[in-house]
Amino acid sequence: MCGIVAAVGREGNVVPSVIQGLKTLEYRGYDSAGVAIVSDGAIQVRRRTGKIAVLEEDLGQNGLPESSIALAHTRWATHGAPEDRNAHPHRDHLEKVVVVHNGIIENYAELRAELQEAGHEFSSDTDTEVLANLVASLLEENSGDLHAAICAALPRVHGAYALVAASASDSDSLVIARHDSPLVVGIGDGVTCTASDMPALLGLTREFLVLENGETAILTPDSCQIYDPNNQTIERAVQHCDWTPEQAEKGGYPHFMLKEIEEQPDVLARTAFDRLHDAEGDVEFESEFGLDDQALCVFSRLRFMAMGTSFHSAMLGKLFLEEFAQLPGDVVNASEFLYSPKLKEGDALTVIISQSGETADSLRAMREVQSRGGKVLGICNVRGSTLDREADHVVLTHCGPEVGVASTKAFFGQLAALYLLALRVGRARGVLSQEQGFELLSDLRHLRPKLDALFSEAAAQAVQKAADILAPVDSCLFLGRGFNHPIAMEGALKLKEISYIHAEGYPAGEMKHGPIALIDDSFPVVAIATPGRTYEKMVSNIEEVRARSGAVVAVAAEGDEKVSGLADATLFVPEVPEHLSPLVNVIPLQQLSYEVAKRLGKDVDQPRNLAKSVTVE
Ligand code: AGP
Repeated sequence: MCGIVAAVGREGNVVPSVIQGLKTLEYRGYDSAGVAIVSDGAIQVRRRTGKIAVLEEDLGQNGLPESSIALAHTRWATHGAPEDRNAHPHRDHLEKVVVVHNGIIENYAELRAELQEAGHEFSSDTDTEVLANLVASLLEENSGDLHAAICAALPRVHGAYALVAASASDSDSLVIARHDSPLVVGIGDGVTCTASDMPALLGLTREFLVLENGETAILTPDSCQIYDPNNQTIERAVQHCDWTPEQAEKGGYPHFMLKEIEEQPDVLARTAFDRLHDAEGDVEFESEFGLDDQALCVFSRLRFMAMGTSFHSAMLGKLFLEEFAQLPGDVVNASEFLYSPKLKEGDALTVIISQSGETADSLRAMREVQSRGGKVLGICNVRGSTLDREADHVVLTHCGPEVGVASTKAFFGQLAALYLLALRVGRARGVLSQEQGFELLSDLRHLRPKLDALFSEAAAQAVQKAADILAPVDSCLFLGRGFNHPIAMEGALKLKEISYIHAEGYPAGEMKHGPIALIDDSFPVVAIATPGRTYEKMVSNIEEVRARSGAVVAVAAEGDEKVSGLADATLFVPEVPEHLSPLVNVIPLQQLSYEVAKRLGKDVDQPRNLAKSVTVE
């Protein structure tokens, strides 16, 4: 899950813009980085282990000459440890071709052995260096035509790739190709550029086109010629991206994660409010949704699939659906679905949820469902992503770019979209009346102002007190019931991801069946005990923890002295209808994990071993 950026311009120096773009992609991988240029018939490369800042420092001391063509890469190691020699870009041993690559070449060992047989020498452990040598080995028989050499090489390559290549003999063009890894093209004025996603190119242009799977393209300063998998030229419409470069920046916050946590009240408005039709007590999605009442009545169940944080949204998608539409929902981990017995699709609508729209497991699950004749509704935050383009039906969350690796506002946007979906299905199937629909809509509208309380000084102090309990420990438990079981899972995941404290989320009823054995005065519990049908049960669970000297951090409704009287620290939240409590309760848990990670000096935005979008299985 690396990040790629490249550009070729008519004149001037594109290296600074390419490095600037690379920095917006650092969340995709940050163990090493590099850049290459082509000038005077030669390829020059700078690569360093560590963050892009290390590379920038190196460029400061040992700069590259100005160049109107450059390709750069930030890495998440798959083959070969994070070392300078394994960092990208990679050249062939005769330095005729240079490549940056995102993905995994599964048959790289065989290809490498063959090329070594033919006299190629290798200086890294990577699959990508094999690609550079394979392409170079085919240049001559293709009269030095890089695009032709790449088209000859790719049929021999098994695996996923988004690649950008340049040849030493041509500083006026780049060749790109993609298969199961994302790649977009930016059309600027006298510059054409490409990257793993749009925010990286917002400094150069806001006019984009997306390369589809199996396609290649030749980029020159004033053109982008796309070729389909049969090497036929094709024309493609340019899309305008309304994101601004500022949106992809921290905006004065110390971390993207904190900025994105505080954007959530706006995310609610952006994702939901334009879709509310109060008069009809109903919801209207944009045309890409494409499911009318009749279509929504055909399905006998909805199956929600995703990974990671999006999987926790899927769990709530099921609960909202069953609550508002009385329709059964299934929740399936996308990577498990791929290897489960191949049952007939029947009349299920599959809802694939993904912030990035590029998660390999979720995309493969989508294609698997479609190959079995099933229909897929994609809930996604990135227009133009693979999920947005390949799903049969789409609902976009309008969260803006999410840069922090630990997902926060995208999760919130997904919950809002799933709430609306369930409402729409309930209305379409006549389960929800206009009045009931109206009530659910106004609950959502009234939620926004209530969220402000979560960003008050009092709330911040409560988070500090709760962090005093969690920061010193090695392990803890998050408990919730009903609508808040998924929030307990999400709270635990957030803490794990950025503080590296072991945390597990559990349905509280399960505690007595095992996890309670862990509890003592060094093993705290975070319990979500807000009003609803499970409130009393949660209070009993808190008492069971206290009976075993476990410290309790509770999430409770403002003024709830019963729970706060039992807890060592209480995160008070505004009281809302039970079905909206997940959207409120998740925020103090996000703030808590952020505070603990910050105290422990962790890299909040780029936690170790993680990447924002997992584009390999
Ligand atoms: C969440 O904080 C993580 N970054 C990760 O679990 C993420 O949710 C998962 O990889 C799914 O990503 P997606 O929503 O882009 O598909």
